[in-house]
Amino acid sequence: MYSKKVMDHFMKPRNVGEIKDADGVGEVGNLVCGDVMTFYVRVKNGIVTDVRFKTFGCGAAIAVSSIVSEMAKGKTVEEAMNITNESVVDELGGLPPLKLHCSNLGADALRKALENYLAKKKKKKK
Ligand code: FES
Repeated sequence: MYSKKVMDHFMKPRNVGEIKDADGVGEVGNLVCGDVMTFYVRVKNGIVTDVRFKTFGCGAAIAVSSIVSEMAKGKTVEEAMNITNESVVDELGGLPPLKLHCSNLGADALRKALENYLAKKKKKKK
């Protein structure tokens, strides 16, 4: 069974969409279930000011994307990079064991988007 919070984020996902000219973009997929998640981040002065996502996947993957986007907003890049699969599951009030892999996608996609941001920033400095 899904927690109330999972159902809420699945039925009313926050921050769905895309950021045009995002500072970082990260995409991950799961080969087994075929689900794909793309995260877009906006960073200002080291703070994650906006996060959007597009998720083609199961209900848990959508709820995970939504909560990850909320968890990351307002955090420093470093803090957001440290969001773990476990903290995502905790924040959602748990996920059924079969759905735990869905939570990995969220934290991974966010991290990829932030890594993309850091790589772009490094390039600009050169
Ligand atoms: Fe694959 Fe949920 S079933 S992400």
